[in-house]
Amino acid sequence: MPIEIAKLPVAFMNDDHAQAAAELETLQALAVTADRDALAAATRQFLLHNQQHFAREEAAMQATAFPAYLVHKAEHDRVLEWLGGLVAMLDAGRDDTALRQVVLDEIPAWLGRHIETMDRVTAGWITARGGTSGVRV
Ligand SMILES: [Fe+2]
Ligand SMILES: [Fe+2]
Repeated sequence: MPIEIAKLPVAFMNDDHAQAAAELETLQALAVTADRDALAAATRQFLLHNQQHFAREEAAMQATAFPAYLVHKAEHDRVLEWLGGLVAMLDAGRDDTALRQVVLDEIPAWLGRHIETMDRVTAGWITARGGTSGVRV
């Protein structure tokens, strides 16, 4: 099922979010059809993408002195723990309907919500401050 992602005024964020949506669509398909090993590998890849993406957003927030940096970073850290926990459970052999529902429902809901709230506010700030900070918008 295609995941709709809101467009923001910062190009690198849109590029990263499109990548996240594509990886998540793959992950959702695997959550319906694939075995645990394939699901674990795709979840690990999604975690890696988010680690890299969050680092890029956090660098841009710091370069532009975004006032709510710590709040946004704390949410990123929470999500990395959440996804890391999911990978660890899969690696440990857990595989059940509740776990697959996290991939099918909770992660897509989080992604849309995060982009519409914290990322949207951050992108507005970066756009306003980017020109003098060296951050590419
Ligand atoms: Fe983002
Ligand atoms: Fe973010």
